[in-house]
Amino acid sequence: MTADVARAGSAAIARAAALLRAGRLVAFPTETVYGLGGDATNDRAVAAIFAAKARPHFNPLIVHVRDLADAERLVVLNTPARMTAARFWPGPLTLVLPRQPAAGVSLLVSAGLDTLAIRAPAHPIAQALLRKADRPIAAPSANRSGRVSATEPAHVAEDLEEGVALILDGGPTPLGLESTVLDLSGGSPALLRPGAVTLEALTELLGRIAPPGSALPRSPGMLASHYAPRLPVRLSATEARPNEALLAFGADVPSGFAEILWLSRSGDLGEAAANLFAMLRRLDRPCFAGIAVMPIPEHGLGRAINDRLRRAAAPRE
Ligand code: TXA
Ligand code: MG
Repeated sequence: MTADVARAGSAAIARAAALLRAGRLVAFPTETVYGLGGDATNDRAVAAIFAAKARPHFNPLIVHVRDLADAERLVVLNTPARMTAARFWPGPLTLVLPRQPAAGVSLLVSAGLDTLAIRAPAHPIAQALLRKADRPIAAPSANRSGRVSATEPAHVAEDLEEGVALILDGGPTPLGLESTVLDLSGGSPALLRPGAVTLEALTELLGRIAPPGSALPRSPGMLASHYAPRLPVRLSATEARPNEALLAFGADVPSGFAEILWLSRSGDLGEAAANLFAMLRRLDRPCFAGIAVMPIPEHGLGRAINDRLRRAAAPRE
């Protein structure tokens, strides 16, 4: 069965909203990556999301809302949460906060935790869908669990044949990396996943933030191996190995690679982030021995790119 793909005009968005309200799953673009959406208040729809992605049930989902007023009904907002949302919503930032007891959101979404991850996406198609559906939408990235996230509708169709009623085609997603995940549910803020809202920008607003992997509570979904293509991935490559393909960054590229795709010739981190997942997919072909990646600077958006690359290169289970 191939999923139905429709250009995301108003008729398709209305159809998608009706499908969501009926408990079906719809893939839709956000400014970060494509999401596989289901009605967050419907247990069966949420269970279907886990099944479609083959996602482990201990890995909780992000709930998408229109704005802070919607979020208020689902989570307990503290001062740092209000400040951060006022500054970065709508946008690529997810906040982890205590659930409102009467939130009405399926408990499956939180995978047994007493917190909820919530974000207001900026993409106009995601906003239009939330408005029409008129309910919170639980949506993980629209890829098979453990694989590279989908930044184009074709990636969704490749990865998820079963269980997706409709793919809303809004073209490639502008940012290309998943949202920053910030845990504000405890005493001090903790970065669970780096993303387009940078650690630098969050620190400027909130003061010290615990980095990922510190002693504070960790995101259950942050498995070492994730975002993985089929081929092995080798990081910080400075010279070629036999029959390797290269993801290049910057103009100065070592010779001898079987194929080269440029994340960014000019060394632009935003451009590299937008290209990362689509290029990993394009190079993931059995004719190559592996995918090598040139060094990426570890600041700003580079932190998020390197986080995804380290997981792509981690030993597979
Ligand atoms: O950009 C994004 O965030 C995309 C788009 C579709 O919005 N979504 C996305 O979802 O990347 P997903 O499921 O692929 O990643 C969600 C991350 C996982 O690492 C998960 O463990 C973490 O958020 N998470 C969700 N709920 C959590 C919670 N209550 N506490 C801690 N981490 C949580
Ligand atoms: Mg994901």
